[in-house]
Amino acid sequence: MTQQDSNGNQMWGGRFSAGPDAIMEEINASIDFDRKLYAQDIAGSLAHVSMLGEQGIVSADDQGKIEDGLRTILSEIESGAFEYSRSLEDIHMNVENRLAELIGPAAGRLHTARSRNDQVALDFRLWVRDRTDAMIDDLTSLIAVLLDKAETHAAAIMPGFTHMQTAQPVTFGHHCLAYVEMFTRDRARFRDARVRMNECPLGAAALAGTGFDIDRQATAEALGFARPTRNSLDTVSDRDFALEFLSAASICATHLSRLAEEIVIWSTPQFNFVRLSDRFSTGSSIMPQKKNPDAAELVRGKVGRINGALVGLLTVMKGLPLTYSKDMQEDKEGVFDGAETLELCLAAMRGMVDDMTINEDAMRAAAGSGFSTATDLADWLVREADLPFRDAHHVTGRAVALAEQKGCELHELELSELQSINPQITQGVYSVLTVDASVASRTSFGGTAPDGVRAQIAWHRLENI
Ligand code: ARG
Repeated sequence: MTQQDSNGNQMWGGRFSAGPDAIMEEINASIDFDRKLYAQDIAGSLAHVSMLGEQGIVSADDQGKIEDGLRTILSEIESGAFEYSRSLEDIHMNVENRLAELIGPAAGRLHTARSRNDQVALDFRLWVRDRTDAMIDDLTSLIAVLLDKAETHAAAIMPGFTHMQTAQPVTFGHHCLAYVEMFTRDRARFRDARVRMNECPLGAAALAGTGFDIDRQATAEALGFARPTRNSLDTVSDRDFALEFLSAASICATHLSRLAEEIVIWSTPQFNFVRLSDRFSTGSSIMPQKKNPDAAELVRGKVGRINGALVGLLTVMKGLPLTYSKDMQEDKEGVFDGAETLELCLAAMRGMVDDMTINEDAMRAAAGSGFSTATDLADWLVREADLPFRDAHHVTGRAVALAEQKGCELHELELSELQSINPQITQGVYSVLTVDASVASRTSFGGTAPDGVRAQIAWHRLENI
């Protein structure tokens, strides 16, 4: 390590006569977490120095030395040989200090026309952009697994619920496709956010831009950005890309948590709609009969961390004046944790859905109870007996009350009993009272009829995968 000035930090210690207090070092250092940005930091520096060389701001000789040095540092970090120092605060200064050790004074030229403010904005953006791409891929594979399940069980009948009470029969394929829609929107949110974040901060320098004749277009292009950012003040103080990422992550985690909750309910012995594989459940240390849906419960629970990260960062950013303030160093840990947590949840959900066995018989039996075809009876009265829907609803209500009193289902009532409620009812009504007839009749676009479900699956496979 290069000898540091007696007055403290060698990067900014010029005007200081004393080194930092130990507590100052403790509160100031971010290296313990921002070391995660090493690859982005080095990629950014390589793009920057190549532009500086191209523009004649540093000599070809120094450019070459800096590039070699940066590559050496990259391999040192990747092999685990790199020694991080907390007194060097963050990843940017750790890398630059090592560069000085490796190549001497030329290292000092790398930071020309740059500040840690645009540097950190760049590194963090690159990291978030990578994770955004990962989320898009992970969501695509979860969608694919749900489509497979939906296809296999396109016509499997289950109870549809409102208020967690049996409402109308639906198909399991249709239910899976509801989640396909949610995860498709989540993926679109990540894609939208990616477009907005894909502007390069490098060259905003500390806050005002720079007097050096830099080429921001070139660095933007080298790093895969669509263009450079347009306002240097905004650039160093903007963390919208991280906020949008966490917002999209929170909504996605909310969807995962809802599906997880359904899996928890479905896998209870009382419901018995699905059976989780041994790979995604655990046993109890005391009750031998138990098979617990821990993975689903953890996916349901982890949304708390992701929402927490979003609220945390919104709170850090709220009320900050332009431009950079050190508060913004608090932007990273929540995003790192939120991203890693969501990736884990997406992978766990994908595995659970893929491995889960569907108990079609139990679903069908449940769908046939709870007067789930009452709406079909009301609709029949509207169509065949020309009753206004409100009257039909009333007649059906009386039929349900009678069935409840007799302890039977609607289709088990005698024709004479139904006719005692409304004489216009004929034998034909029984054809709509089965769960199969009920789902088959729901042919409106987006409805639960198996043919409609198959058509939706085909659309998703063609347009959405
Ligand atoms: N470690 C800092 C951060 O994460 C880097 C930027 C420091 N800039 C400064 N002007 N002190 O935000």
